[in-house]
Amino acid sequence: MTIFRGSFLDTPADPFTGGALRAEEDGAVVVHDGVVAARGTYAELRAVHPDDDVVDLTGGVVLPGFVDTHVHFPQVRAIGGLGMPLLDWLEQCALPEEARLADTTYAEGVATDFVRGLVGAGTTTALVFGSHFAGAVDALFAEADRVGLRVTSGLVLSDRLLRADLLTDPDRAVAESVALASRWHGAGRSRYAVTPRFSLSCTDDMLAACAEVLAAVPGAMLTSHVNENPREVEGVRELHGCDYVTSYDRHGLVGAATVLAHDVHPTDQELALLGVRGAAVAHCPTSNAALGSGLFPLARHRANGVRVALGSDVGAGTGFSLLKEGLQAYFAQQLLGDAGVPLSPPHLLHLATAAGADALGLGDQVGDFSVGRRFDAQWIRPAPGTPLDVGLTHAASPGDALARVFALGTPADVRGVWIDGVPVTRPDDAVAEAGSPLLVG
Ligand code: GUN
Ligand code: ZN
Repeated sequence: MTIFRGSFLDTPADPFTGGALRAEEDGAVVVHDGVVAARGTYAELRAVHPDDDVVDLTGGVVLPGFVDTHVHFPQVRAIGGLGMPLLDWLEQCALPEEARLADTTYAEGVATDFVRGLVGAGTTTALVFGSHFAGAVDALFAEADRVGLRVTSGLVLSDRLLRADLLTDPDRAVAESVALASRWHGAGRSRYAVTPRFSLSCTDDMLAACAEVLAAVPGAMLTSHVNENPREVEGVRELHGCDYVTSYDRHGLVGAATVLAHDVHPTDQELALLGVRGAAVAHCPTSNAALGSGLFPLARHRANGVRVALGSDVGAGTGFSLLKEGLQAYFAQQLLGDAGVPLSPPHLLHLATAAGADALGLGDQVGDFSVGRRFDAQWIRPAPGTPLDVGLTHAASPGDALARVFALGTPADVRGVWIDGVPVTRPDDAVAEAGSPLLVG
């Protein structure tokens, strides 16, 4: 048993349906075999467990590890390409970098940068858009597995539109995807996601191949893009002769294990279909702003019962922090005026944690600090004298403290990250003690 002591904030009950922020000030979470065994005040739990180790996380706040529902592994070195709409940005910024991952040694370096970026931002679980190259996807899974991150990922598939070196064909797509899934799906914390890049770059034969892989890998997820940009939406209609969601749905690719990113420009029929199928949407606020994609219609998603969580969408998104994504989600809803959903700090925390866990089918395992959940956590502890430190010192309530964290927090404020109660430490830091807050190296 280990006792973690600190101020714990989480959202076990959905604030969108009346749930409140749960706060345990000078609280304790008792962790046994990686799982939350008890929670309460430090005084009462210390009395019950007088001899167990204490990890002192007092000062700052402890949040559940973030769940990033949409982030591109091959784009970590392409973050920051501003000033272009989606299709230009893909051609000029993202795809040239993605092509470099044909070299597996290069891809291994990118995997190291990528996993470090996620963990450094307090993200402990992610649905990761992989690479077009199987060797690179292996490198990602291997690095995530070495560090202990919970990742769901897969081979990205396209057979049209993109530069030739990123294309494949349906038979090869099935063979390579199934081979990757046989190595990684269910291995440790890794799972497989069938990943057509977007239906704009996939023929019907390729989308049918995706359905074949999905059927061959029980428990696999499906992830792709949808309705991000008006030119792209128009292209999908020209190519497939139907709306964007239907282009996936008619191949059986839209279900409860589907996460589609963006959905900035859906029709009412598409939202209704997503709701009926139980699919989830990854809302990627900084990407939507950076590429000028538009303001996310959250109210219309909610009205249709479509599950929504946050994605960083690195590298169109401007960084790995879901604190920044939460703040930008708040801004977008403010800018929508009467059509926006007013978002409070507990809404933002829920979107970055429990809602993501739910979208990934992991809601019974991670996303909050309830008894029985796995202890995935981040300690936000700003340096003394910084604006966030000052703000936390003067916060009037836990909800007020959380607002300051979303307004001012960055990865520099994430002092420690734990997955299954184990610190995510530097690989060569053999002397790291259990519970010591060291970041991945
Ligand atoms: N649509 C297809 N590929 C991509 C991508 O890499 N990033 C974003 N934002 N949209 C996409
Ligand atoms: Zn994306």
